[in-house]
Amino acid sequence: MTDTTKTASEQDRVLIFDTTLRDGEQSPGATMTHDEKLEIAALLDEMGVDIIEAGFPIASEGDFEAVSAIARQSKTSTICGLARANYKDIDRCWEAVKHARSPRIHTFIGTSPLHRAIPNLDMDQMAERIHDTVSHARNLCDNVQWSPMDATRTEHDYLCRVVEIAIKAGATTINIPDTVGYTAPRESADLIRMLLERVPGADTVIFATHCHNDLGMATANALAAVEAGARQIECTINGLGERAGNTALEEVVMALKVRNDIMPYRTGIDTTRIMNISRKVATVSGFPVQFNKAIVGKNAFAHESGIHQDGMLKNAQTFEIMRPADVGLADTSLVMGKHSGRAALRAKLKDLGYDLGENQLNDVFVRFKALADRKKEVFDDDIVALIQDQATSAEHDVLQLKRLRVVCGTDGPQEAEMTLSVEGVDHSIDATGDGPVDAAFNAVKMLYPHHARLHLYQVHAVTEGTDAQATVSVRLEEDGKIATGQAADTDTVVASVKAYVNALNRLIHRRQKSAPGADMKDVHYSSHA
Ligand code: KIV
Ligand code: ZN
Repeated sequence: MTDTTKTASEQDRVLIFDTTLRDGEQSPGATMTHDEKLEIAALLDEMGVDIIEAGFPIASEGDFEAVSAIARQSKTSTICGLARANYKDIDRCWEAVKHARSPRIHTFIGTSPLHRAIPNLDMDQMAERIHDTVSHARNLCDNVQWSPMDATRTEHDYLCRVVEIAIKAGATTINIPDTVGYTAPRESADLIRMLLERVPGADTVIFATHCHNDLGMATANALAAVEAGARQIECTINGLGERAGNTALEEVVMALKVRNDIMPYRTGIDTTRIMNISRKVATVSGFPVQFNKAIVGKNAFAHESGIHQDGMLKNAQTFEIMRPADVGLADTSLVMGKHSGRAALRAKLKDLGYDLGENQLNDVFVRFKALADRKKEVFDDDIVALIQDQATSAEHDVLQLKRLRVVCGTDGPQEAEMTLSVEGVDHSIDATGDGPVDAAFNAVKMLYPHHARLHLYQVHAVTEGTDAQATVSVRLEEDGKIATGQAADTDTVVASVKAYVNALNRLIHRRQKSAPGADMKDVHYSSHA
């Protein structure tokens, strides 16, 4: 039984382990640039994340560089890198994380029958491998996490045996992954309880829970594991991650805060920073947050029905279990317009959680004025879209849209006249297509021939009204590599082309950066010495 009468400082601390930059970034299309990873790591550090899993150093030169740069810049968080169960991975991981004030090596191997078949090891051989690799990691670093991948589908006796071996070999954290999102809350709790009861030495380490959301139970499974004794939750911002994603950081943290009466555990997270980092991750990953997503969705605090609005006006608690300000949402929605000055914009940005430098502010101000000229009222969401748009394009991009004019009509194919700068040189063309967006995309293809295929094209209106800005997401695939671009504009076709060009720039950037044959997607779940 948990003691619900403890004061906040007496309550058990649950460590928050964020893997947005590793498990989240492995999501096809969510690839982030080096600088974006560093920015996100800094935000995670500032918001009080205990452990940041910064990447998979052996996966590529780029991953290694990012993990070591994050380790060097870390202030409070422990910086962790992932390594398969072999010495080469572990050594490379240590080389990357060792610069951190507090480094951690996280090594794993698949222990379920299906996963054991991949490296073709029998139970005894795998047990020996676990002993050797965890000992090796522990000789390098005194903070070692070990994960039996697919733990929730591993035979209990074997799981107890290998967890005991890992603890004896020096692991300080044992992570229990539900790799395929298969478990359910009661089972998740029973598994942790069983390990705590049966494994000798279990009380000397921290047990972690790592859940995937394939059945929509990742948050519930993580919280159930905590109630059974896990004291570390592995999660990602916005629940980013392969397939249906991972446990969402904002959900577990806010659940523990709002329902502290029945789940008396504390985290070190400053929840007022949640919205800001959620927007940042959505922008750089190219995975927009669904409108009705818990905590960070656009509608999470919107009360539109008449009954709700009436109740809210009388007493906010009628329908609101947490205050928008608790997650960093500005209470006011002060509308801005073309007469609003720099000071008002700066104050608004601060309210929204953006602390911009002078140059960035100047740039946003120019774009804000241009938007206010086209749009009577500029809402909070418009400003967020402006910032996100700025974040996705860079001066040194190979492709830049210079001019676009489309001709639409009920008769005949639509036409697009476009000027595109390719490596600093302007090129122009006229193209036709089945609709204005198709015509404009055809123009891009003619000006910059490529064989990337369109996987996703998504348009959202940022606010209401026919003058609303559109945010567009475009996902492209080229030779198995996926990149997503986003852009916003009051003109949907312009936003579409900018998003397309942005995705292309990301593919070009990846092409230029990636070391041949070294891509994380290829190495994730294979495990060899
Ligand atoms: O889901 C999983 O099993 C993982 C491991 C590498 C911990 O991400
Ligand atoms: Zn995972």
